[in-house]
Amino acid sequence: MKIKSKIITVFSLSLFLNFMACKGDKKLVKNDQNESTEKRYLGKPVTKDFDSKIDELIAEMTLEEKTGLLHGNSMFATAAVERLGIPELKMADGPLGVREELEKESWTPLGLDDDYATYYPAGAGLSATWNPELAYTFGNSVGKETRARGKDVLLSPAINIIRTPLGGRTYEYFTEDPFLNKKLAVPFVVGIQDNNVAACVKHFAANNQETHRDYVNVKIAERPLREIYLPAFEATVKEAHAYSMMGAYNKFRGEYLCENDYMLNQILRDEWGFEGVVISDWAAVHTTVNSLKSGLDIEMGTPKDFDEFFLAQPLIDAAKAGEISEEEINKHVKRVLRVMYSVKSMGSDDRKKGSISTEAHFKDAYNIAAESVVLLKNENDLLPLKASRIKTLAVIGDNAKKKNALGGFGAGVKTKREVTPLEGLQNRLPKSVNIQFAQGYEERYSKTEKAKLGDVTLSGPVTIDELDPALVEEAVNAAKNADAAIIFAGSNRDYETEASDRASLDLPFGQKELIEKVLEANPNTIVVMIAGAPYDIDEISQKSSALVWSWFNGSEGGNALANVLLGDVNPSGKLPWTMPKKLEDSPAHATNSFPGDETVSYDEGILVGYRWFDTKNIAPLYPFGYGLSYTDFNFSDVETNTKTYTQNDTISIRLNVENTGELAGKEVVQVYVSKIESAVERADKELKAFKKVEVSAGKKASVNIQLPVKELAYYDVSSKDWVVEPGIYNLKLGNSSRNILEELEITIQ
Ligand code: BGC
Repeated sequence: MKIKSKIITVFSLSLFLNFMACKGDKKLVKNDQNESTEKRYLGKPVTKDFDSKIDELIAEMTLEEKTGLLHGNSMFATAAVERLGIPELKMADGPLGVREELEKESWTPLGLDDDYATYYPAGAGLSATWNPELAYTFGNSVGKETRARGKDVLLSPAINIIRTPLGGRTYEYFTEDPFLNKKLAVPFVVGIQDNNVAACVKHFAANNQETHRDYVNVKIAERPLREIYLPAFEATVKEAHAYSMMGAYNKFRGEYLCENDYMLNQILRDEWGFEGVVISDWAAVHTTVNSLKSGLDIEMGTPKDFDEFFLAQPLIDAAKAGEISEEEINKHVKRVLRVMYSVKSMGSDDRKKGSISTEAHFKDAYNIAAESVVLLKNENDLLPLKASRIKTLAVIGDNAKKKNALGGFGAGVKTKREVTPLEGLQNRLPKSVNIQFAQGYEERYSKTEKAKLGDVTLSGPVTIDELDPALVEEAVNAAKNADAAIIFAGSNRDYETEASDRASLDLPFGQKELIEKVLEANPNTIVVMIAGAPYDIDEISQKSSALVWSWFNGSEGGNALANVLLGDVNPSGKLPWTMPKKLEDSPAHATNSFPGDETVSYDEGILVGYRWFDTKNIAPLYPFGYGLSYTDFNFSDVETNTKTYTQNDTISIRLNVENTGELAGKEVVQVYVSKIESAVERADKELKAFKKVEVSAGKKASVNIQLPVKELAYYDVSSKDWVVEPGIYNLKLGNSSRNILEELEITIQ
C-alpha cells in the first residue's frame, strides 16, 4: 500500500493510468499477456508497455537520481528515489543463507534479534548430493528467506570452478566439473527467482583463487575458458534467466572483470543475450566511464563515503564534462529498473512475502545435508553403527562441537539452529549409550606468525599444530575404554576462508597425529572429516577402516550426519572434486601455475580436476564422483536407442541399476564420454550426463538418461563456435570417474 500510494502521487498521469489499466482489470492483464507472448524479458512474458513505462520513468529522473541507482548508497543497497516511487535495490549475502543485517556504512553486524536465518549446507555439500532437485529445493528455500527479510537480490550462487584444492572458497563453490556445475546452478537460480528475488550469480568469471585476487591477471586460453570456466554461468543466463551477475575482483586478459568489455559486453550480453544487471563485487571497481561502457551496471563496495564511488559523484562529473552521454547512463538505469519490475519491488502489490527459519526450511537443509555425506571407506562392517551393541561411545575431536554458520572472512549466517555432530549423536542415540566426549585437539592460530615465504599464499591463517599432551591422553583413554570411537576432524570456516588460499593440504591443529593415536587405541574408530575442500588424508585413509566425509553442512548438519552414521540414512554423496594423494598431483600445481603473482596463467588448459588425473594417468586418493553406500549396486543391460546420431539428436541411454544388498539406497549413474581420435586435444573422459536413482533392496530399476549430442561439442577456437566432431565416441557409465562399469560405442555423423 505504501509503495502504491507513493506511485500514485508521483507518476505522471498517463503513466499512472497505464499502470492501473494493467493492474486493475484482470481480464485486461490476461489479454495483454496473451497478446504479448512475443515480448519477453528474462524468459518471462511482459506487458507490451513494460519498457515504455520504464522509459517514461527514466525521463522524469534527474542525473543524480539516475546515478543513485548505479552504486551502493549503503553496504547492501542502492539509493531510492522516493518522489518517483523507486525503492532501494536491497541485497544480501549469500551462499550459506541470508546474512544478518549489517550497519549501513560498515561491516559491523547490527546485532538485531529478528535477523536469524536458516543455515544451509555450503556449496560443496550441495554439489556432493549430485541431485539437481535438491539444488532447486535449496534455491527455493533460501529465496523465500530472502523475501522474508525484505531483500530483492541474493548474492548467490557462487559457482567458480575449483581449480586448486587449496582455494579458500572451495567450500563455498560447487565443483571442479563444468557439467555438474551447470546442472546444479540452473535449478538453484530458478529456485531463488521463483520467489520474486533476483539471484546474483558470482563471481563472473575466471575468479578461481583468493591469493592476489584484488589484482591478479588471469590468463586462460579460449578453449578452457569456454569449456571449463564459463558453461555454468552461461547456463544460468540462457536456461535459468538469472537476473544478475557479480563481476569478480581480479583481472582477465589484462582488464579488471568489472570493466572487461570482452566478458561483460561481448560474451555475457551479445553472445548469451543476458538482459539483467551486472553488479560489482564489493570494491571491485576501478574506473567510472570505462566500467559503465564495458558492461558494469551497479558498483557496490566497502565502507567509504558512498558519494566517492566511481559510479557516484565521479559519474555525475563525467556526464557533465561530456565524457559519457546521458543516453549511456539511461541504458544502465533501465536495466536496473527492469529487474526491479521483474522481482516486483515496483509496480506490483502481489509480491511474494516469503518465510524464514521455519521448520520446513530446516527440513530442506536437513534433506540436502543427508544426501551430501560421502562414505569414503567402510571395512570390517564398522558402519553403520549398531547402537544396540554399544555401551560406551567415545566422541573425539574439536569438530564434534564446532559450529560453522559464522566464521572466517566473508559471509556467514546468524542462525538459531546449528546442530553439531555431538548433538546429532545425542539426539539420535538411545540413553543406554554412554557418550564420552574428549576434545583431542584445539583450534589454535598464531597471532604473530605469517604464512612462510615459499608457501603458496602469504595471507592465510597460520595454525598451531602442536597437540596438548593432556588432551591427547584424555582422547586416547576415551577411545580405549569405549566399544567404538568416532573422531570428528577436518577443518572449519575460520581456516577455510575467503580472502586467502590455504598454504598446504596438511590437516591443521596436529590432527593427523591425534587421529593416528586414537586409531591405535581403538581400531573400531570411525574417522569423520568435516571440511569443504580436499586435505592430505592418504595415511589416515590407509590406517582407518571407516572414513566418512561431511561438509559445513547447515543447521541440521549434525542430525543428518548422525543418521548416516547410524544407518537411518544410507549415504549417497559423491565427491564433487578429486581428492589428490598429494598437492603436486593436482593440475595447477603439477604445471607450477598457481598462484602466480601479477599474472597467473592456467597452464593445465582444459585438463582441470579429474580431466588431468585421468588423462595423465595419475591415481588420485579418491576420484571425482566417488562415494560408497551401505548397499551395493550393479549396472547392466546398457543400451542406447540407436547407434548412430546426427548433430541435433539426443542420445537416449537405458540401463538397469540393481541394488544387490539389503538396504534401500541411492546411486548416481555417471556418464562420461571419451573421444579418442580427435583433431584437438581431448581429456580422457568428461562427464556429460548423470542421474541419481533410488533403488529398493534386492530390486532393479530401469533408468533412462538423455544426452543431447550438442553436449559432446568442443569449442573450436578458429571458428569461434562449438563443434561436434563426427566419429566414434565411447560412453562410459560408472559410479565415479575411475570406476567405469559399462561401456558403449556410438557414432556421430
Ligand atoms: C565477496 C562476495 C560477497 C561480497 C559482499 C565479497 O568480498 O567476494 O562473494 O557477496 O563480498 O559481502
